[in-house]
Amino acid sequence: MRRGFIFPSAEIYGGAAGLWDYGPLGTKMKNSWENLWRKHFLRLDPNFYEISTTNILPKPVFEGSGHLESFNDALAECNSCHSRFRADQLIEEKLRISSEGMNLDEIKKIIKEKNLRCPRCGGDLNVKFFNLMFRLELGAGESVKEAYLRPETAQGAYLAFKRAFNILRNKLPIGLAIIGKSFRNEISPRQGFYRLREFHQAELQIFFDPDKMNEHERFDEIRKKKLRIYSIEDRGKETREVKCEDMDLPKFYLYYMSKIQDFYLEILKLPKEMFRFRELDENERAFYNRIHWDFELNIESLGGYKEMGGIHYRTDHDLSGHQRVSKENLMVNINGKKFIPHVLELSFGIDRNLWALLDLGYEKEEERTVLKLPVNVAPYFCAVFPLMRKEELVKKAKELYNIISSEFSTMYDETGSIGKRYRRQDEIGTPYCITIDYDTLENDTVTLRDRDTMKQERVSIKEIIEILNKKLR
Ligand code: GAP
Repeated sequence: MRRGFIFPSAEIYGGAAGLWDYGPLGTKMKNSWENLWRKHFLRLDPNFYEISTTNILPKPVFEGSGHLESFNDALAECNSCHSRFRADQLIEEKLRISSEGMNLDEIKKIIKEKNLRCPRCGGDLNVKFFNLMFRLELGAGESVKEAYLRPETAQGAYLAFKRAFNILRNKLPIGLAIIGKSFRNEISPRQGFYRLREFHQAELQIFFDPDKMNEHERFDEIRKKKLRIYSIEDRGKETREVKCEDMDLPKFYLYYMSKIQDFYLEILKLPKEMFRFRELDENERAFYNRIHWDFELNIESLGGYKEMGGIHYRTDHDLSGHQRVSKENLMVNINGKKFIPHVLELSFGIDRNLWALLDLGYEKEEERTVLKLPVNVAPYFCAVFPLMRKEELVKKAKELYNIISSEFSTMYDETGSIGKRYRRQDEIGTPYCITIDYDTLENDTVTLRDRDTMKQERVSIKEIIEILNKKLR
């Protein structure tokens, strides 16, 4: 917060739970993460596209998707002071047991049996379902229509499917990605960025022929690749590594699992021990999923492995629901075969991912605080400094800054001692610092300092762009 990554929204009014803003550094980092995501996932198939759809959707959409009926959390409300709590959290905190997968009746029963009372005033608790969507009114007067803020970006892609399919060559699989905001009226937002009421998702919906679920034209490329998994049978044991070809999952699903793992281990270059896939059982899965593995990162500040996203086999749940409610035919006709495509969804929570990277990168060393962010998401890739604020050094440093900043996200800084300037960049995660000194004026070389090792090397200005490009790659 102090360095301008994130701040509470409406802070001067005391803020609001579950609402956070991104400051200048956070916004840069978020943009870089989103661009990496686009670059990695949209290139997996030439028939994948990004679209941008509205945050507000009319009520019938959520009748079709099932969210009006099923997107609920159990709420425990005090009959005396009317404080509201998430029933599952209350059970977890007070009884130290997980209520994951319990239905409303089971939750009510356990609260009654164990005599759980209001943590604020000791009053009786009334447990009921609470729909997490934010309701709105569209328009005014007699023409007013009920609408909701979208609780996931995914629905925009299902609504756009028919048009997109027809415009884009009538071919499956087709992928529609949306990067944008989602909204959930979480009963108790907590743990910083982990549970927000307004948040960002990057989701890719891949529409495919269900008869081809057990094939992928590039499966051979990943057949021997080992996935880090924590399956239902592994509960209470260690994460294992299993070759794709030895996993009991459809090939289409496995191909995308492996690409998600690549995103974390090869693109962001996180240590592999930080990452795993976790299988969800029937009770834990979202109401629309038939196969559901989450991917998790080990976040110290949140006490262990935490969900960053999920890979969801949603079947034809959404398209069939929308066809039923809208009465629009959403079937495709491929070589005479008529069917409703099935959907594989790759769903990422952007804010949680950024939080995890900040957490994993933060290190307090003896003489400095350093944020070891992946080089491709650090807000600034490099910084340029004149050694001192002398006219000839400043002039040369600004010339170099103009060249480098046209290629890389670059900061210029001439304030304070050189040591302090290095520390400032370490704290915000800038991987490289370039210093112009009196030798530069003589021989056109600069010092290039590495954030993680703090080592400095002397390099020629002529080669600097090429050297930085290599480091970024
Ligand atoms: N379209 C599928 C879907 O939305 P989800 O598991 O509900 O599935 C996907 O959400 C991801 O979105 C989660 O894994 C998480 O990273 C992020 N997410 C969900 N709710 C969130 C919240 N209240 N605050 C921050 N991120 C959230």
